[in-house]
Amino acid sequence: MTKTMHSYDAAIARELFSAAEIGAAIERLAAAIARDHRRRPLTLVGVLKGALYVAADLSRAISRLPDGPSEIYVDYICVSSYGNAARSSGEVRLLKDLSDPVGGRNVVIVEDIIDNGLTLEYLRALLGERNPARLRACVLFDKPYHRLVEVPVEYVGLVAPDEFVVGYGLDYQELFRNLPYLAQLRPEDFTDG
Ligand code: PRP
Repeated sequence: MTKTMHSYDAAIARELFSAAEIGAAIERLAAAIARDHRRRPLTLVGVLKGALYVAADLSRAISRLPDGPSEIYVDYICVSSYGNAARSSGEVRLLKDLSDPVGGRNVVIVEDIIDNGLTLEYLRALLGERNPARLRACVLFDKPYHRLVEVPVEYVGLVAPDEFVVGYGLDYQELFRNLPYLAQLRPEDFTDG
């Protein structure tokens, strides 16, 4: 059954970060990453599906900066821990691995959001075993309220409130990823039209 425009719109409670605020955060992250990888090759690993937009925008923002990395490689890995559930099952599944080896590379994992931390912990362990020269993590939205594990995040964009959030890559039942802003969702108001 398709969702009507009405139910889709009604499920958005409020905008939390505008597209312009997200863009400014990405510029700040890009500047920090470029500074730390000046004149060195950099491999960005976007974590699908959520990091589709942040990895694309971040990679282009870094490349616009003068005196940044000597080369920028972009690869994607696909993992899932939530399925269609609102909260994590605690089990991270690898759905698609990287296309290329990261041994000897300066790698930055690019995530849309960190919540309980299990996904990033899994990825740091998985990629760490492949002997990168350096392994760091960049997260656009940090929800620091429900960590189950402490995992290092070298680059943090914005702190999101403790709400169910969608947009800019984040979904509710695979919808809303394409919103250009971050919004708070009211799932109880999201009904089949
Ligand atoms: C989301 C998000 C992160 C992860 C963070 O992915 O994109 O990868 O959850 O949550 P955590 O810190 O609690 O582990 P999800 O599993 O929903 O898949 P998706 O990116 O395909 O939406």
